[in-house]
Amino acid sequence: MEFFVDTADVDMIKKLNDMGLVDGVTTNPTLIMKAGKGHKETIQKISSIVKGPISVETLSTDAEGMVKEALEYVTWGKNIVVKIVMTPEGMKAVKILSKKGIKTNVTVTFSPLQALIAAKAGATYVSPFVGRLDDVGHFGMDTVAQIKEIYENYGYQTKILAASLRHPTHVLEAALMGVDVATIPPDVMLKLFNHPLTDAGIKSFLDDSKKWKK
Ligand code: G3P
Repeated sequence: MEFFVDTADVDMIKKLNDMGLVDGVTTNPTLIMKAGKGHKETIQKISSIVKGPISVETLSTDAEGMVKEALEYVTWGKNIVVKIVMTPEGMKAVKILSKKGIKTNVTVTFSPLQALIAAKAGATYVSPFVGRLDDVGHFGMDTVAQIKEIYENYGYQTKILAASLRHPTHVLEAALMGVDVATIPPDVMLKLFNHPLTDAGIKSFLDDSKKWKK
């Protein structure tokens, strides 16, 4: 299972990358805003740290504009994946980019049928937003399971990128389900380390080492 980090915070990406936790990065307009620097500058910095795929979101509402943005984004780094929203124009853009060999990530996806459409258009990744589905009373992970079943039924190569993950249990469920990628916010990624028995075990070993005979 690949771990992408869902942030545009360059210092945090470096910290997590040094721990071996970053196979890739996902960004979106909100995360770029939070990072507080220019879009291109931020993506180029991330690209200098992380070798794996970096998702960069287009802002146009028409396919032509999306493709134009995509062609610029891929000059920002070797590992750019173009994030495209789940709309008819978006899928037109995915089809064009896929033919050009440019990787895409279909975002703001909330249903298995949307994911089926993304796969038919030739998307490299599809991003179901698990936490946002949970927020409105759905079981976000059930949607991921249905997408997986559909993709397996027909052998689609589009990778499932579980997104909008809010807590470690989402990561556990995604791993048990065998999704290709989880994009994880930094605070959730750091929580994956935590276990009270680990803390207690380390403490007791250190305490006992102080009692060694000299
Ligand atoms: O990057 C897209 C997705 O992960 C957003 O998550 O927490 O804003 O719903 P969230």
